[in-house]
Amino acid sequence: MERKKACVTGGTGYVGSILVKRLLERGYAVNATVRDPENSKKVSHLLDLQVLGDLKLFKADLKEEGSFDDAVNGCDIVFHVATPLHFESTDPENDMIKPAIKGTLNVLKSCAKAKTVKRVVCTSSASAVSLNQLTGMGHVVDEESWTDVEYLTSEKPPTWGYPVSKTLAEKAAWKFAEENDLNLITIVPVLVTGPSLTPEVPSSVVIALSLLTGDESMINALKGMQLISGSISLVHVEDVCRAHIFVAENESASGRYICCAVNTCVVELAKFLSKRYPSYNVLTNFGDFPMHPKLSISSEKLIKAGFSYNYGIEGMYDESVEYFRAIGLLAN
Ligand SMILES: NC(=O)c1ccc[n+]([C@@H]2O[C@H](COP(=O)([O-])OP(=O)(O)OC[C@H]3O[C@@H](n4cnc5c(N)ncnc54)[C@H](OP(=O)(O)O)[C@@H]3O)[C@@H](O)[C@H]2O)c1
Repeated sequence: MERKKACVTGGTGYVGSILVKRLLERGYAVNATVRDPENSKKVSHLLDLQVLGDLKLFKADLKEEGSFDDAVNGCDIVFHVATPLHFESTDPENDMIKPAIKGTLNVLKSCAKAKTVKRVVCTSSASAVSLNQLTGMGHVVDEESWTDVEYLTSEKPPTWGYPVSKTLAEKAAWKFAEENDLNLITIVPVLVTGPSLTPEVPSSVVIALSLLTGDESMINALKGMQLISGSISLVHVEDVCRAHIFVAENESASGRYICCAVNTCVVELAKFLSKRYPSYNVLTNFGDFPMHPKLSISSEKLIKAGFSYNYGIEGMYDESVEYFRAIGLLAN
């Protein structure tokens, strides 16, 4: 087989670094973009992957036009994973929303210029589909659904800038792809958990494990997530990366693909964790907090296309707990 070349933007990140690893293992040559290649603390886990195959690092910033030209040049597939993440920002418009849109367009412009790129896979987020003011229960959210940006920008619930940035960046990507005849697919993952290669513990794993660690501010973030989006929906990082590669290689793939293995809510999750890991004394009484998810985020399109998840809730938590034990964030 002819060796394919892929570019991964945000190669240092949680999803990005595992995607780079899996692509190298599949025989791809990989160009990974990083903001600061000289910062050994941020890139050493990526450099460690060079033993697996042909991996080159390129300096690129979402805020700079043309920044991705060199990394994308000569690639067959581009995975645009990078996104500005500043959950605590007091100016989300300038820290997250504008750079996410501009950055996505910068990457896509480089892809269009390169002439070699056959497909672009952009990493979107469930926060671009499920944040709507739905009333009642039992809703099923699929790829037709978009987050209500007007509601978020007027009501400004906590961390509103992130879902707005992901929704508008994905919409901008679809518009650009249509206007420039670019073959685009988006992967729409829910909350990602599972072991990481990064030196820093990913915030999504910290939130997913908050009921076990007892970190109160993160438990509040988890509760907030359910209140604003309607469910706690989870997927293992390995399945997210496999889904990226699956849609990249599946010629008939098109459009958006939700990537979600488990739909639950805080109370149900707490009961599951308390039973499976009794030594951590998981709190299971949440007073009058909603006992059930309002909606489920459907991954039927991806499954119908032939993808299967390797991890259900047991596997994703067993591995995450193991990871947290190994780095000292949970007692053995
Ligand atoms: N984790 C989840 O639960 C989850 C769920 C749904 C969707 N997603 C999506 O998955 C993707 C990866 O997320 P993650 O969890 O892996 O986050 P992460 O570990 O924080 O990775 C983010 C990456 O983006 C890069 N980046 C940030 N600002 C940049 C800029 N201005 N220019 C260039 N690169 C920049 C970072 O590079 P530096 O190393 O230079 O900072 C880092 O490599 C994102 O698109 C996110 O929205 C994640």
